[in-house]
Amino acid sequence: MPKVRLEPVRGMRDLIPPESSEILWLENAFHRRASLYGYEPVILPTVELFKLFEIKSGPEIVRSMYVFKDKAGRQVCLRPELTASAARLFLKTLQTRPRPVKIYYVGHAYRYEEPQRGRYREFIQAGVEYFGEEGVSADIELLTLIRDYLRDVSLKHYKLKLGHMGVLRALLNSWSIPEDVQDEVIHLIDKGLVEDAVRLLRKLVSEDVSVIEELSKCREEDPDALMRCGKDVGIGGDALMHVKELSKILRIAKELKVGEVYADLGFARGLAYYTGFIFEVESSALGLSVGGGGRYDTLISLYGGPSTPATGFALGIDRIHLALKMGGWCMPEKAVKVLLIPLTENYIYLDRLASRLRGEGAVVNVYPKPKVSAGLRYASSQGYDYAAIVGEREVSEGVVTVKNLRTRRQAVVSVDALSVGDLP
Ligand code: HAM
Repeated sequence: MPKVRLEPVRGMRDLIPPESSEILWLENAFHRRASLYGYEPVILPTVELFKLFEIKSGPEIVRSMYVFKDKAGRQVCLRPELTASAARLFLKTLQTRPRPVKIYYVGHAYRYEEPQRGRYREFIQAGVEYFGEEGVSADIELLTLIRDYLRDVSLKHYKLKLGHMGVLRALLNSWSIPEDVQDEVIHLIDKGLVEDAVRLLRKLVSEDVSVIEELSKCREEDPDALMRCGKDVGIGGDALMHVKELSKILRIAKELKVGEVYADLGFARGLAYYTGFIFEVESSALGLSVGGGGRYDTLISLYGGPSTPATGFALGIDRIHLALKMGGWCMPEKAVKVLLIPLTENYIYLDRLASRLRGEGAVVNVYPKPKVSAGLRYASSQGYDYAAIVGEREVSEGVVTVKNLRTRRQAVVSVDALSVGDLP
């Protein structure tokens, strides 16, 4: 009997190869793509003060947070997402930099939710935050970055759902609903509990709030139809202005071929900091969203900073991985794998040989025992492409015996002429 429990804590996972390698590959692809768009990396702390998230994360996230007191009695939490930390960092350090400030991150986040397929208590988010630009150009950029990343990793079957928190907020403001109640209403709508949201509003206002229920009728792929629908369900004033902006983003998104895209006026996101354009990336295979984001123009001032427009998104790397695997995905660009089996202690020779191949990007793993058949068995079971055997004879002749483990072909190759492309 083991002396410790071997299962990870509920909702947590050990990730082992090949999944762990695939997830790292997906993360690296995000580093590459976000950098190509001019975002710079930040590394943010996993533990933050609870207050940072309590202010404007919304009831759903706050309820699912890991919150505890540290040894000095501070009320801290494991971050449930990274936007609040990024906003804190912007305010503390980055706000004096020339605008726009564009940062990206890849990091773990924690939510105490009911674990199920694609929903974990520890998961990886890859995201960007764009500070200092209020125009739609920043929002559009997020969509093309997602388009390019998903193309890079070859995720094909997804839909982009667009919405606008300004529409709902403008309606709620027109009925003078206090902000904390607005957040609760938005939370209910996000959970699909529109009737509960309407019931809550009816207790507070005498006006007809049924337009809230009507909003979800406006789910359109066509930007003009979206405008028409907004007007038909009785949206006017500021709310209509936001529908117009959404319609504009939808039009451009279609022109830029960001994927299958539609807008839904009844769409809300649970995070309470959103103020404007919002979106989610829905995976058809998974039936879950693999990413989401939007504009949060008031968060920085809520944290005590100057009014600063901001927009961003986060992709769920675990969910993207899951969706890809469901479609039979295999990680591309696999390096050639060589198992070096030394029958000599001439470390200088072995190092020279291994460095040559590694210098060309091959994986060279050195088998620790001078046993050829055990080494070959290990190499075959671990999916190696080649075994390279070096004994005293090879050292004296300046060569290496290379065996192709797939074709079984074997050749003696000079170490000075050794190249991945010329292996048998
Ligand atoms: P979010 O929609 O809460 O947004 O999370 C973004 C993505 O993280 C989700 O679409 C999903 O793929 C993944 N995710 C969330 N919870 C879990 C979970 N329990 N298990 C696995 N994956 C999960 C945000 O977090 C915002 N901070 C996005 C943002 C950035 N908005 C503006 N800037």
